[in-house]
Amino acid sequence: EISVGILGLGSYVPEKVITNYDLEKVMDTSHQWIVERTGIHERRNVTEGQATSDLAAKAAEKALADAGIGPEEIDLIIVGTVTPDMFFPSVACLVQDRIKAYNAAAFDLTAVCSGFIYGLVTASAFIKNGTYRKILVIGAETLSTITDKEDRNTAILFGDGAGAVVLGETEPGYGILGFDLGAEGTGGDLLKVPAGGTRQPVTAETIANKLHFIQMNGNEVFKFAIKVMGETVKKALAAAQLTPQDITCLVPHQANLRIIQSAANRLGLPMDKVVVNVDKYGNTSAASVPIALDEGVKNGRIKKDDVIALAGFGGGLTWGAAIIRW
Ligand code: ACO
Repeated sequence: EISVGILGLGSYVPEKVITNYDLEKVMDTSHQWIVERTGIHERRNVTEGQATSDLAAKAAEKALADAGIGPEEIDLIIVGTVTPDMFFPSVACLVQDRIKAYNAAAFDLTAVCSGFIYGLVTASAFIKNGTYRKILVIGAETLSTITDKEDRNTAILFGDGAGAVVLGETEPGYGILGFDLGAEGTGGDLLKVPAGGTRQPVTAETIANKLHFIQMNGNEVFKFAIKVMGETVKKALAAAQLTPQDITCLVPHQANLRIIQSAANRLGLPMDKVVVNVDKYGNTSAASVPIALDEGVKNGRIKKDDVIALAGFGGGLTWGAAIIRW
């Protein structure tokens, strides 16, 4: 049995900072409201000419350098994203060309904020069964490009960024020990971009009605998130034959500080065992877990032998968790 672990990580966020005070100027909100209800202080946005693959390629290059391998060693690139540069080619193919990983197969995967964890689990199966040896898994998003800048319900939450890991064989007993993935298509309406696909192709009317932007039922998504975060981690722990007491560090999807606190509470984990950076970046969708993981490792929060739990939830609805011995 091949053990599959993370051999290197990297992340990248665009330079442009949007503070809560910037948002106060353009909509009816306040720094205080946003901090109290979400824990977010600022987020990053792409600037004109910057697209998702630009962020993804930068994160990927850092992950390769961290793993100490060249791009030609990569067998597969999986990008979790709902904000591709265009319908096709995929972000994964654009990244393949950019980083010169010409031996790699490449595809994108759609699971919204759970995209990185779905990608991680998918990649690990290819390595476990001996098909591929080294896989780049990337979560990269520019949600600012599909957010209505006048909608205070969503514009305060989302930011842009990318995180990447190189996955490969690791020592026995280390790496991914268990996971859980799930979906609930009946909840699809709670969080969606209605137009721009084949159901409602782009027309002057869809544009006038702002149907190319994220629509969200915040309260329902909040309730769903609180319930599912603890549950998915517990299922992944059971698959790894571990319990919440074994977790040394939780790396949750950074959607809202209150959701993170509630998940930690349901798992009986004190907040000093939880990586939080939602204050700096807001919700970067599929990029949030790998960015938080990268920060946790680089700042020494996550160390060799730690048992870490990654957990995410998002549109679809989807959710997922993975338990990793570092
Ligand atoms: N600024 C000021 N006031 C606001 C704002 C704002 N930005 N937004 C809403 N309000 C007001 C509301 O109008 C309401 O006023 P009322 O009491 O007079 O009616 C009041 O504040 C409370 O609004 P709620 O919606 O009940 O506020 P809540 O505490 O639920 O916070 C939030 C809203 C932050 C959106 C929360 O519901 C949330 O985080 N939900 C989860 C969202 C999420 O995680 N989505 C991403 C999923 S991941 C993915 O797939 C992308």
